[in-house]
Amino acid sequence: DKYKVVVTGPIMPAALALLEQQCEVRQWTEVQPPRLGQLAEWLKDAEGLFVSANVAVNEELLDVAPKLRVIAQAAVGYDNIDVQACTQRKIPFANTPGVLVETTADLAFGLLLTAARRIHESWDWVRAGKWQPGSRFPLGVDLYGKTLGIVGMGAIGAAVAKRAQTSGMKVIYYNRRPRADAAALHVEYRNFETLLAEADFIIVLTPLTPETRGMFGANEFEKMKPTAYFINVARGAIVDTDALRNALASNKIAYAALDVTDPEPLPASHPLLQLTNLLIVPHIGSATTECRNRMALLAAENMLLGLAGKPMLTCVNKEVNYIV
Ligand code: GLV
Ligand code: GLV
Repeated sequence: DKYKVVVTGPIMPAALALLEQQCEVRQWTEVQPPRLGQLAEWLKDAEGLFVSANVAVNEELLDVAPKLRVIAQAAVGYDNIDVQACTQRKIPFANTPGVLVETTADLAFGLLLTAARRIHESWDWVRAGKWQPGSRFPLGVDLYGKTLGIVGMGAIGAAVAKRAQTSGMKVIYYNRRPRADAAALHVEYRNFETLLAEADFIIVLTPLTPETRGMFGANEFEKMKPTAYFINVARGAIVDTDALRNALASNKIAYAALDVTDPEPLPASHPLLQLTNLLIVPHIGSATTECRNRMALLAAENMLLGLAGKPMLTCVNKEVNYIV
């Protein structure tokens, strides 16, 4: 008999094919993410749940999924998952670290470079016919010789640091605990306040947790240089959106570039969109064909391993991922 698996959203075809070899897959294919009530019937006998960060996996969901044995998510961040609730029910959960590191680092550094040199704005300007004899596009800023502050120096942070160093930037970072390999990475630890004051560019890469929710508010923007560029590629809710808007509107900081927002998606009428010293892209950190294939295949492999009672490759709550 095939395992019963629910897939809550779009999935790369190769990963779906892999799942279908051993699973009877029920996939949510509507554009809008499903509400719990819409999945409840499927969840009644589902053994596996394949999530794409578009669904909250909480007590309420777990309550209507009594047969659930494995949860796999094709994303590295898992703030949508109540891991403790999964662990209590002995359900192993796996995310997809590692496979999106270089891809996300490209986007993070690409946002920094695009914002610093106004690449996107200058293209709009050319397309609008403003490139005329004697006309000048506003000047950008150099990366060379500047300091990049990375908040949340994990695998992605290290990959961003390499890119920044190639452009001649000095890299400082803040983590709860300094990294043992900081010297080898040529990055220097700073406490949070010092990093805010010293950095010309700040890139946020920390996971969203109760401790990091709202970590960047009015006080933090106040401590930054008025010339600071603020880049978030982690999760929108790490930043107090109103405080960011105020800091940009009053030029307390120079510029922001965001891959993630709170709320997400950002409504077309949102006040952030009134600002000119801001660049927003729609959560595309891992959005390449190659990377999304790696993520989906890793999540599908995790699913099959978990359903077979084997250790998953990247389990978060390993204490419940035992061999049966
Ligand atoms: C994307 O945001 C991810 O967490 O993988
Ligand atoms: C991603 O895999 C990270 O650990 O930063």
